[in-house]
Amino acid sequence: MRTQVCIIGGGPSGLLLSQLLHRKGIDSVVLERKTRDYVLGRIRAGVLERGFVELMREAGVSQRMDAEGYVHDGTLIAYDDRTFRVDFAKLAQASVLVYGQTEVTRDLYDAREAAGGKIVFNVEGVSIHGADSDAPYVEYTVAGTGERIEADYVVGCDGFHGVSRQSIPASVRREYEKVYPFGWLGILSETPPVDHELIYANSSRGFALCSMRNANLSRYYIQCPLSDSPESWSDAAFWDELKRRIPEETAAKLITGPSIEKSIAPLRSFVSEPMRWGRLFLCGDAAHIVPPTGAKGLNTAASDIHYLYHAMVQFYRDGEVEGLDRYSEKALARVWKAERFSWWMSNLLHQYPEAGAFDQKMQRAELEFLETSEAAQRVMAENYVGLPY
Ligand code: FAD
Ligand code: DHB
Repeated sequence: MRTQVCIIGGGPSGLLLSQLLHRKGIDSVVLERKTRDYVLGRIRAGVLERGFVELMREAGVSQRMDAEGYVHDGTLIAYDDRTFRVDFAKLAQASVLVYGQTEVTRDLYDAREAAGGKIVFNVEGVSIHGADSDAPYVEYTVAGTGERIEADYVVGCDGFHGVSRQSIPASVRREYEKVYPFGWLGILSETPPVDHELIYANSSRGFALCSMRNANLSRYYIQCPLSDSPESWSDAAFWDELKRRIPEETAAKLITGPSIEKSIAPLRSFVSEPMRWGRLFLCGDAAHIVPPTGAKGLNTAASDIHYLYHAMVQFYRDGEVEGLDRYSEKALARVWKAERFSWWMSNLLHQYPEAGAFDQKMQRAELEFLETSEAAQRVMAENYVGLPY
C-alpha cells in the first residue's frame, strides 16, 4: 500500500492530524495497536485550550464540542482554609473548554469514518524503515498477515510507550526526565460536579482536584503514593480522603456516588529531542510527557499537530520544506514552556515526601504571592488558557 503520510497511533494526536490533512486533500493511513472501544475507554484529559478548540473547528469536528463543552473563565485554588480565583477572562482575555478527551477522540473517529478515512486497528509489530532516506516505509502485522505501507512521511503519534521515538537512533536523541514521587488516583462518578469551576487544592494531606465532564459526570483526583493500587482504594475511602483535602464548605456540598472508573497515573516530566529525524516526525506523548497538573498533556500534543499540519500543507501545496525543516525547533520551543508551567503548578500544589521545612515555606510563600499578586495570576492565566502557537 502507498500513502502520503503514514501515522502511527490512533489517539487524539494521530486522528486530529489525519482529519486536518484530509480536509486539505492530503492522504494518510492511521495504524492503531488497540481497538476503537479500547482507545475510547481510556479516561484522560478534560480541559481544552483555545488553540485546541480552534484546531477542532478547522478539522470540521467541532459541532458537538461547541454544543456540549463548558466554557470556563477561571479556576479556583484552595490552600489551608483559603480559596481564591484566577480569572482567565479578565487576565488573559480567554477561556478554556471542559470537554473530555474521550469525546474529542470519539468525534474524530466518527469524522474519519464518515470521510472513508483509513484506520487499521489491532496492528502488531509496527516497525519504521528508511526514515533517514527518501523512501520510508512501515511494516506491521494485522490478523497474522504482514503488511507494508510506503509513504512520503511517517508521523509517530504512538504515545510514550510507542515505537516511533525508539526508531530514532539513541546517538541522535537527547532525553530529559523528571519523575515525581507520587501519583494521581482519579475517579469518574455519575454525580453533579461540586462546583461549576475546577478546584485545585493544596492541603497538608496532599493535592486534590475537583473537575468534571458534564452536569452529571464528575472527575476527582487525589495525590497518592506510587505504591498504592486502585483496588486498595474503596469508593468510601476515596470520598473521605477527598473531603479532608478540599475546603470545608465544598466538602459539605460534595455529592458522592459509586465510581465508574478508578485509576492511578504516575507523574512525569519528559522531553525527547529532536522531534524530527529525516522523514519521521514525533507528535504528542511520543515525544514529551507533562505531569497532569495544569492540563497541558493533550493540549501540547495539539500544538505539535498545529505546527506539523501547517508544515505539511506548505509542502504539499507549495513544495516548500521550510516548515518541515523548522518543525522540531518550533514545536520544542512551545513544549518546553508547557513543561515549565506543569512543573511549576505541580510544585505549587503537591506535598513532596522529601520536602524540608524550607521547601514548605517556599511553597506557602508562592501560594500567598499568587493569591495576592495580579501579575502572578496573569502569568498563570496566560499559561493555563494556552500560550499562542
Ligand atoms: P496517546 O493518547 O497515548 O495515543 C497514542 C496511541 O498510539 C494510543 O491509542 C496507542 O494505543 C497507540 N499506540 C501505541 N503504541 C503503538 C504502536 N506500536 N503501534 C500502533 N499504535 C500504537 N492530560 C491532561 O491534560 N489531563 C489529564 O488528566 C491527563 N490524564 C492522563 C492519564 C493517563 C493515565 C495518561 C497516560 C495520560 C494522561 N494525560 C492527561 C495526558 C493526555 O491524555 C495525553 O497527553 C494525550 O493522550 C496525548 O495524546 P497522544 O495521541 O499523543 O497519545
Ligand atoms: C482534568 C485533568 C487535569 O490534569 C487538570 O489539570 C484539569 C482537569 C480532568 O481530567 O478533568
